Formats: sequence, structure tokens, C-alpha cells
Amino acid sequence: MQRSKFYVTTPIYYVNDKPHIGHAYTTLLADVLARYYRLLGVPTHFLTGTDEHGQKVQQAAERAGITPQQHADRTVVRFQELWKKLEITNDDFIRTTEERHRAIVREVFRILYEKGEIYRSEYDGWYCVTCERFFMAKDLDNGACPDCKRPVDRIREANYFLRMSKYQEWLVQYIHEHPGFIQPDFRRNETLGFLRKPLTDLCVSRPKSRLSWGIELPFDKDFVAYVWCDALVNYISAVGYRSDEATFRKWWPASYHLIGKDILTTHTVYWPIMLKALDLPLPEAIFAHGWWLTGDAKMSKTTGNVVNPMEVADKYGVDPFRYFLMAEMVLGQDASFSEEAFVRRYNSDLANDLGNMLSRMMKMAGSHAGGVIPECGPLGDDETQLRDATLAAVATMQQSVDTMRLDLGLGAVADVVRQANKYFEKKQPWALAKQADKQPLFTVLYCAAETLRIVSGLLYPVMPGKMTELRKTLGLPAGAPDFNQLKQWGGLVAGTKMGDMQSLFPRIMADASTAPAATAAAVEVKAASAVIAPAPASPAATPAAATPPPSGIALIDYADFQKVQLRTAKVIEAVKVEGADKLLRLQVDVGGERRQIVAGIALSYAPEALIGKTVVVVANLKPAVIRKVESQGMLLAASVGKDLRIVTVDGDLPSGATVK
Ligand code: MSP
Repeated sequence: MQRSKFYVTTPIYYVNDKPHIGHAYTTLLADVLARYYRLLGVPTHFLTGTDEHGQKVQQAAERAGITPQQHADRTVVRFQELWKKLEITNDDFIRTTEERHRAIVREVFRILYEKGEIYRSEYDGWYCVTCERFFMAKDLDNGACPDCKRPVDRIREANYFLRMSKYQEWLVQYIHEHPGFIQPDFRRNETLGFLRKPLTDLCVSRPKSRLSWGIELPFDKDFVAYVWCDALVNYISAVGYRSDEATFRKWWPASYHLIGKDILTTHTVYWPIMLKALDLPLPEAIFAHGWWLTGDAKMSKTTGNVVNPMEVADKYGVDPFRYFLMAEMVLGQDASFSEEAFVRRYNSDLANDLGNMLSRMMKMAGSHAGGVIPECGPLGDDETQLRDATLAAVATMQQSVDTMRLDLGLGAVADVVRQANKYFEKKQPWALAKQADKQPLFTVLYCAAETLRIVSGLLYPVMPGKMTELRKTLGLPAGAPDFNQLKQWGGLVAGTKMGDMQSLFPRIMADASTAPAATAAAVEVKAASAVIAPAPASPAATPAAATPPPSGIALIDYADFQKVQLRTAKVIEAVKVEGADKLLRLQVDVGGERRQIVAGIALSYAPEALIGKTVVVVANLKPAVIRKVESQGMLLAASVGKDLRIVTVDGDLPSGATVK
């Protein structure tokens, strides 16, 4: 679909509590879409913000013993900090307590009142504080709120009402005539089902005697606006409705309101009717995504199973977290968050496939092509296949953005990376390197690098930081890629100097809280450096290739092995790493140089048992920070399943001795 502009919104979040993974998800989804449209050259506006009025915020402030404004000012920072951390590129952040919003809400109420769309009447019914909604007795679920199932309060008071019933038929027809208006399809049916019952007029005010924390109505100072009518207006107040007509014309109607499935009715019934009553066009689409669950259970503060996005991003990195959320959720359906699922996807898609592909290509190009993009010879069948698959993934990705199935687009990209690894295995560049004619080798390296160029562009909106690193490694210019250049094979220019070798996605090692037990039947020697061990610097630590060569072992050159500096080291100190039951922090002496190493061996060794031992370490590994502790190397250990033994030397040798 060709768009002339893209205006995307998230719900504005209540400031009664800190952000959780559900908030992070909607905002990330909006961010990824906005970033894609920017790459496509479409003028884009991305709005998010906070919903700061209403009873929930007032009650939270009362509990904290501060004013609602103070409470909002404190909580909003948590959202803003999280968005900064998650690299969210919103163009605007609206708070409903800002004057630019309050003025427009009052204006909306004035217009609707003067048009006779809002009238005063007596209300007698039931009220749910959590949902901030009124219900008739017939709508209750066994006397409780039909949405959140919490108890409701009986309320009888004068109030103002919006004439909803008169728009019911119009709305049903509009939804039928605009099949893309409510997405996915089954949510459209849900709204149509809701509209089968007669609509009651909506109570759009709250008497100040009961709730003072809100926007005062312009025509009655004893009332404030119902928080949902206040909040929904943010989508137009932020883009200049009644304050900056040019901006408003530029962005409205919105391309997408992204919401969670629990706020479908407010967005697909109340909001369209408010807009219709104001004579404004409706948003092009409202997309309701599913819930993030913990296992099979709903996240809730009472159960204590709420996932804190800040913690996950701190532990595993922002980009992998962004990737997981986008790749794991089939848009519209519920999805389950677990660290195990996270680690599984990370290790397979990112460490074993993408990171591995890059490091293999870079190693070969470094050793045999002088660290520059080599010249590509004529494409054979295998190269043509890889090229076609890569270009097909570009089309799938673009389509998946259009159809809101990002999981499918990301799946297609992951498939291409797997195919590139297989291509590498098949072509055996390490064998080609031995031939006098270097052209076949160069062609393989070029095609692998070119696939990575296109992949890095496709994944850029999802993992902007990591893809910037990858693009730098490929010698590409800084800045966002141009989507059109991803549609063409051959963008890498031969002779371009490549950047430093990157360990892009260090494999996440088995950790008590996450990964399943190792399945290797044979004794495996690997670097036991902890939760995230820097990826394939040594052949022994290289994860199994996507498709191993016939012997089952990816062969390396002696030159590759020589790059790894193994040294003996004497353990001077060993202590447990707080909060990580598998980790020890060691101080070792490597030929007179003192180093700190974090090693995942605490389940097999008491700290004191290590003091004085001579161990073997990888001495030329880039430092990594593990659970906030810097690790300056790795310790070798052999393992079968969970059974683990450190590698030592036979007899007495000074520390710092070379191991080869
Ligand atoms: N303030 C209203 C929205 C007003 S928009 C004009 C609101 N705020 S909220 O903070 O309670 O929720 C914001 C969004 O987070 C909702 O879309 C809700 O569906 C979503 N989520 C809350 N928990 C969630 C999950 N566990 N998973 C996914 N999203 C969920 O409602």
C-alpha cells in the first residue's frame, strides 16, 4: 500500500504505576513501524504519552500522600526513561495535564455541548473504578465488572451524556464499509457483536464532589471530563486540532491507533462516535494486539508475575529484547514471555545464525581478502539462489509491515540468514582459500557479505544499535539505510575496507534461571565465562554451525586457532557473584598481570577450592560485562551435561605460559 504519510499512535499510559512489558510492547511496535516507514521515505509522525487524570491516578496519589500532579510528574519519568532506554523514536510525547491538551478537551466539550450532542441528565447505575466505566445492572457479570471482574459501586448522580445511540446504525454501516478499520478481522467481529445490543448514551462527566482530578467542563464548573473522553482526544490535540490547522491537516486522520485488546470498545465505539459528532474523519485503522502472558497466566501485580522491561533490557541488551518481542508475537494473538523462550530464540536466530554468519565471513575476509569487500565473480546457481531468496525476503518484510505481520517478515529474514550459513557450508570457503585462483573464494565472501548488507537493512528498524554495528563492520556509511537500496543486489563496493571484527551477539550460556541443560553427548571443552559469554572467539567456543559439514565438525584453519591466545593463570581470589548462583568472580595472575574473570562454574566449585590452582584462560578476548561485573577473559572448562571440570595443566608451570 502506497502511503503519503504515516501517523501512528500508542495508547497513552496511566501514570498510576510503573511501565510493564505490555506498555513496552505497544510502544516498540509503533517504533518499529515508524522506523520502517521512515526508511521507505514516508513522512512519519509517532505519538505516545501518558493519561494522567481520573480516579486511578487520584487514588494512587492519595495512597502515596502527594498531589495527583506530583504523582504524575514522578511516574511519567519512568515511562520517558524506559522509552529512552529502548531507543524509542517518538516524535511527540503528550501528557494530558499539559495545557495544550486541556485547552482542546475543553474545546471539544464546548463544541459538542453547543451542537446538542451532550446533554445533562440523572445517572443511576454501577461504576467500575479500575476501568473507569459505568455499567447498567444488566451488563454486570454476576454483580461484578464485566471487563475486569472486580466489584462495582452503585452510583446515582446528575451528569452529562453524549448521544451515542443515534450513531449506532451509522457506525455499524461504517465498519461494514471499511473492512480495514478494525484489525485483525476477529476484533471487528467483536465490536460488531457489541453493537448488536442497543447503545446507551455515554456518561462523559464526573461531579467534582466525587472526583476532582480532571479537566473542568467549560459549561459547568462542578464537573470534570470523564477520563476516557479526555484521553482519546490526545490523538487530535497533539497534532494541532483547533490550534494549528496546517499540522492537523498534515497528520489527521491517523494511519494506525495501536491498542491492546482490552481497550477495543473505547477505541472502536466511543472514539469513532466522538469524531463523527465533531464532523471529523475517523482514523484509517485501529489495530488491537493480544496480551503478553507469563506462561499461560495473565500478568498481574497481585500474582507478582509482571515482567519488567527495564530489567530484561538491562540483562540481555535492548536490541535482542526488541527483536524477541517483535518476532515472537503473532500480531493480534496472545504471546507468552519466558526467559527460556527468549534465550532459545536469541541463541538460535541471533547468536548461531546471524552473529555466526558475520564472524565466519569476517574471519575469512580478514585472512584471505585483506579485510576488504572482495570482487564478486559471475554468479553460479547457488549464488543466484541466495540472491533471489534475499530479495524475496525484502518483499516479504515490506508486505509484513503492510499487513501487520512483522513476525512473518522477521521469519523470512531469519530463513535467509540460515540459507546463507548453508551456502557457506556448501561452498567451503576454507577449502577454496587453498586454491591459487581466488575468484571463487571472493565470490562466496562477497555474496555472504551482500546478504548481510540487505539483512542489516531489513532488521535496522528492529535492532537499530546492533544493525548499525553490523553495517559499520561491512564498511557501509553511517546512518539509516535507504529501503530502495535493499531491493537491489550488489550494493557492496569491492575494495571497501571493512570494520573491526565484531562479536555481534555473544551466545547466552546456560544459566540456572534460563537455558535448558546441554545436550552434548561427548565431553565438550568450552569457555566457562558465564551468563553471556562473548561469542565464537575460539574454535572450541564456536556454536555448532547451522548445518554442520558431513563430519559433524566445522573445520578451521591453523591460522584461525592461532588467533586465540591461551595462557596459564593462577587463581588468587574467588568469590560468588551476588544474585547469580552459577557465577564466580576470580582474580587471576597471568604472567604478572592481574585479571578479573567471571566464570559460570559456581555449581561445580566452591570458591576456596580454586585458590592456588593453575587454570587455562583465553587471554585475548574482548572484555565483557556480566551481571554488571567486568570479565577480562575466559576460563576453559570441560562439561558433560551439567557436570563441569576446569581445565588445568599437568605438573608445575608458571602462570602466563602459552598453551597451544
Ligand atoms: N490510559 C488507557 C489508554 C488510553 S488511550 C486513549 C490505558 N492505559 S493502560 O496503561 O492501562 O494500558 C495501556 C495499554 O497497555 C493497553 O493497550 C493495554 O492493553 C496494554 N497492556 C496492558 N497489559 C498488557 C499485557 N500484559 N500485554 C500486552 N498489552 C497489555 O488503558
